[in-house]
Amino acid sequence: MKHLILFLPVGLFLAACSPKATPSSTTKAVVDPNESLIRASKDRFPDITADKLNQGRSIYYGGACVNCHAAKNISNWDEEQWSKILDNMAKQANLTQPEKDAVWKFIIAVKLEVK
Ligand code: HEC
Repeated sequence: MKHLILFLPVGLFLAACSPKATPSSTTKAVVDPNESLIRASKDRFPDITADKLNQGRSIYYGGACVNCHAAKNISNWDEEQWSKILDNMAKQANLTQPEKDAVWKFIIAVKLEVK
């Protein structure tokens, strides 16, 4: 319901500014990358949030996961392999349980998004 209320004025505004408005290419560029990850993974992780994904992403690409090696290509391993790898790597990186959970959800969301 909230979404409807938020989008209605935008729709009216765009309609008022037609015919020159070309929303498709311009609006896509400003879409939060997390939105697509949330859409891909919300059935799997009903409690998923942008904060959680940001936390996982920053640990993965800029935090403890790049202390020993460059960030690995997520698609190189399937979910089962990742589960074992992350159990091992989370220990190497001294991640707390919530940090490990954030990295796990980020990885799986990326995999689900690509599917
Ligand atoms: C204390 C050092 C260290 C940290 C921190 C670390 N790794 Fe690793 N990781 C290694 C080593 C050593 C290897 C094996 C050599 C290689 O593949 O680079 C490895 C391998 C991997 C592999 C390849 C596994 C395979 O089967 O080939 C992945 C994926 C990976 N790490 C992900 C991560 C992630 C995600 C994190 C953060 C949670 C992380 N690593 C943190 C040391 C570390």
